[in-house]
Amino acid sequence: MMKGKHIVLGISGGIAAYKAAMLLRLLIKKGAEVQVVITPNGKEFITPATLAALSGKPVVSEFFAANTGEWHSHVDLGLWADLMIIAPATASTIGKMANGIADNMLITTYLSAKEQVMVAPAMDLDMWAHPSTQRNVETLRRDGVIIVEPQAGFLASGLTGKGRMEEPEAIAEAAEEYFRNLEETSSKKMDMIGKRIVISAGPTYESIDPVRFIGNYSSGKMGFALANECKQRGAEVTVVAGPVDKNLTLIDGIKRIDVISAHEMLSAMENEFDESDVAVMAAAVADYRPVEVAESKIKRENRDEITLRLVKNPDIAAALGKRKENRKLIGFALETDHEFENALSKMQRKNLDMIVLNSLRDKGAGMMTDTNKITIFTSDGTDRTFPLKSKKDVAADIADAISGLLGR
Ligand code: C5P
Repeated sequence: MMKGKHIVLGISGGIAAYKAAMLLRLLIKKGAEVQVVITPNGKEFITPATLAALSGKPVVSEFFAANTGEWHSHVDLGLWADLMIIAPATASTIGKMANGIADNMLITTYLSAKEQVMVAPAMDLDMWAHPSTQRNVETLRRDGVIIVEPQAGFLASGLTGKGRMEEPEAIAEAAEEYFRNLEETSSKKMDMIGKRIVISAGPTYESIDPVRFIGNYSSGKMGFALANECKQRGAEVTVVAGPVDKNLTLIDGIKRIDVISAHEMLSAMENEFDESDVAVMAAAVADYRPVEVAESKIKRENRDEITLRLVKNPDIAAALGKRKENRKLIGFALETDHEFENALSKMQRKNLDMIVLNSLRDKGAGMMTDTNKITIFTSDGTDRTFPLKSKKDVAADIADAISGLLGR
């Protein structure tokens, strides 16, 4: 996967610098060509001679080579790199990157890098937790840098925190995944260029009191997979996310709006739909919410039973269906019985152009799984049932169908 890829490995001065040698070896083993750039401090922790031997290239550190006076061009390095990995990245290096303080070759190379940059922070746990570091990391994230989160450990206070650099294997894997995604994107059909798609995903939570809610087990996996798929096909994608699984990620460039309740989701979806060509309601919206939300935590007291009064939530899909004009609207149906009839009547009632049915009778389909088995119905009377697939592959089938709708 990394054969012939050009990687600039930036090493700054942390105790984890010795792990950079292992990372370098792994990258070379996977077929990459690696050029090391080291900060003056980095050299205190690992010798350039070791790194030069492993990479087969002289290590770059100074703007001028001491013996020949030859100018090392960070611009050339920045252009050469298909990926720049900074591991370990100290608090100081992260701070300089975030603020453009270009006082060494590593930072100037970073500022000249044209392709993706990936950072593996390594520092004392308290330094990582400091608001200053967190602010700088956030800046890097916003600038499009991939952060390989450090590992957990114990703080001086005994509490757990993060800071230890991720293992070389995991960093190399993150690099491979980056190249894999890139390749996937470039091999995708670009059939959604110029289309704007808004996708809702995950559950909604309806507050009972300040600490409790009514929710459901939806993870948001299907909606996120679909969002990534549409983005890879060239669409402009917005995700309206309920409280989804924290580990789910969206490809860079997808707009994300976080909401909690059905009401919040309704207003976000209505706003976005007006600016979109397609809306996909992949969220598992809570059907009911408590009539009143208690202002303070409901006490247990001596009651053996309590009654919660619930009121119906707005049907978001139906609300969008009423205002859709020439836009397209897609819904999901999760059914346990009379699957086809229910799906079809929902499509009609909510004025959808397409509905994706998951039957809970099928093993591996529906919520909380990595797989799904679907049937796609369209309003012109066609239906197509697909075999059990990963949610990623299911997303591609749904995207094909959406693309078909848009082509009409
Ligand atoms: O009626 P049912 O909940 O089965 O319909 C499912 C479809 O309707 C899904 O696309 C879901 O996102 C959407 N829905 C909604 N608002 C609700 C309930 C469901 O948009 N309150």
